[in-house]
Amino acid sequence: MSQKLFVPILLGTNRRDRSSEHAAKWVYSKMQEREDIEPAYFDVRDFKLPHDHYGMEIGGDFPEWRDAIIKADGLVIVTPEYNHGYPGVLKSVLDLLLKEYIHKAVAFVSVSAGPWGGTRVCEALLPVVRELGLTVTFTDLQFPSVRSKFDDDGTLLDSAYEKRVKGFLDELVWMSTSLRWGRENVPSKYHQT
Ligand SMILES: Cc1cc2nc3c(=O)[nH]c(=O)nc-3n(C[C@H](O)[C@H](O)[C@H](O)COP(=O)(O)O)c2cc1C
Repeated sequence: MSQKLFVPILLGTNRRDRSSEHAAKWVYSKMQEREDIEPAYFDVRDFKLPHDHYGMEIGGDFPEWRDAIIKADGLVIVTPEYNHGYPGVLKSVLDLLLKEYIHKAVAFVSVSAGPWGGTRVCEALLPVVRELGLTVTFTDLQFPSVRSKFDDDGTLLDSAYEKRVKGFLDELVWMSTSLRWGRENVPSKYHQT
């Protein structure tokens, strides 16, 4: 591949003591190790969202995020499952942009304290990313029973994830590469060729 794929990763919860941060930082470190990905790390906690106004009208107030998504070939969303859904703050951050996401790939990392690994939040996110124009991979990376997966310092305790994260990122690279080719070669009213 001539040019690395630019793939931001977004940590989707601002909860104090969030275990999802361990998963996000570990996946980010795996992205950094790869020669085919240039990653960038974003945390919803760093977005100074106003309480009375959000959506695309204020997307320009978050230029680092907007520029990253314009440049992006793919996106990794790391989300815990809260009442079978996604954190409201994750939705608010995603809602800051719209056309910038179109015809780019997205992959989900989900996190739960219980045994299901956030499978339900992955399903709940599908209609959201579809409306954003993102194309989702079918290889989610799940962290069930997350408190037994990492120690307090965020060190991963389960070596099985090395193989899983490779498959997760390989599929995201395939999808991102295909969509980049499509954006560059197949005309669409949604992007410049
Ligand atoms: C408001 C709230 C709702 C939750 N709902 C669920 C749920 O529906 N399913 C689940 O498996 N875990 C649920 N959990 C527990 C999370 O899985 C747990 O907090 C886990 O550590 C991942 O989230 P974290 O990044 O906030 O730590 C919930 C936690 C909170 C704070």
